[in-house]
Amino acid sequence: MSERPLSGLNKPDAALELTLRPAMFSDFVGQERVKERLEIAVQAARQRGEALDHLLLSGPPGLGKTTLANIIAKAMGASLKSTSGPTIEKAGDLAGLLTNLEEGDVLFIDEIHRLQKTIEEYLYPAMEDFKLDIIIDQGPNARSVRLNLPRFTLVGATTRSGLLTAPLLTRFPLRERVDYYEAEQLRHIVVRSARLLGVEIASDGALDIARRSRGTPRIANNLLRRVRDYAQVRGDGRITAELADRALAMLEIDREGLDEMDKRILEAIIVKFGGGPVGVASLAVAVGEEPDTLEEVYEPYLIMQGYLKRTPQGRVANELSYRTLGLGREAGAQGKLF
Ligand SMILES: Nc1ncnc2c1ncn2[C@@H]1O[C@H](COP(=O)(O)OP(=O)(O)OP(=O)(O)O)[C@@H](O)[C@H]1O
Ligand SMILES: [Mg+2]
Repeated sequence: MSERPLSGLNKPDAALELTLRPAMFSDFVGQERVKERLEIAVQAARQRGEALDHLLLSGPPGLGKTTLANIIAKAMGASLKSTSGPTIEKAGDLAGLLTNLEEGDVLFIDEIHRLQKTIEEYLYPAMEDFKLDIIIDQGPNARSVRLNLPRFTLVGATTRSGLLTAPLLTRFPLRERVDYYEAEQLRHIVVRSARLLGVEIASDGALDIARRSRGTPRIANNLLRRVRDYAQVRGDGRITAELADRALAMLEIDREGLDEMDKRILEAIIVKFGGGPVGVASLAVAVGEEPDTLEEVYEPYLIMQGYLKRTPQGRVANELSYRTLGLGREAGAQGKLF
């Protein structure tokens, strides 16, 4: 086939991500309940001519937290200033951000669980009373000055809401959790992205990509890009089901969409802990992850897909896990001996 203009091919991934990111609630696929609650909050605040209440968005990576923050700012007709927990090193950094806000602006703090404790304490009065106490000068001249801040909306995003302190958590009147997407919703996202990228895709080809995306729009979009490359070089540019299948096989993408850590978790439960029940702390040690990352990032997908269940005694692997890993029940029984 003929070469396409280089500008199209060289677009960096970050720019592509921007192109694919929905800008309005109506383009945002899935998370219907979250969306409805947020749309109501936005509309009510607008009708009253007020800033939206502070909002905490939590959930695993790549499910649309940053996207929602942008959609909300746009729907409020506000501008969004973006920063992240680890980049705010000193109280002065935060003061700089806050004093530059205008009435109704959205301050987006990504990875808010990584905010330092001392900085967090500065944030409390800013969130609650729109006041900021800063120390100016040093030594004997040091004094505290109270600044008035414009009414702003803090939107915090976190993949680990379990790590947030209670005082910070309670200062967010709005709290929403985004969850993994169903294959059908991801198919919708893939079809939409393909249209934006100008690629022809068959519905079952899109579903193929959706099924292997671990319930995650970001993964779905990334896979679509790789399959598009394959279609362009090895095919005629169109993504049929057959081509998607070949491309995904070449990329060695797991059929079930599980990643390395997912498999390690399931294997540990079956082989090391006899299929369970096993407590999350022991499981975390066995796979070298932190217990709350297991609970907040990995398990929700595995539970949703029916690989494991949480019982009061601990985690138990379902039949599907044995089948997927190609392990028999005896693999578990062996584990019980140790
Ligand atoms: N509901 C959705 N509909 C369509 N596309 C979506 C949706 N959610 C996410 N996406 C796509 O997935 C990409 C990743 O989403 P986003 O950056 O918002 O995730 P995130 O939750 O902020 O992830 P992280 O925790 O890693 O920051 C977006 O660029 C967007 O293209
Ligand atoms: Mg994000």
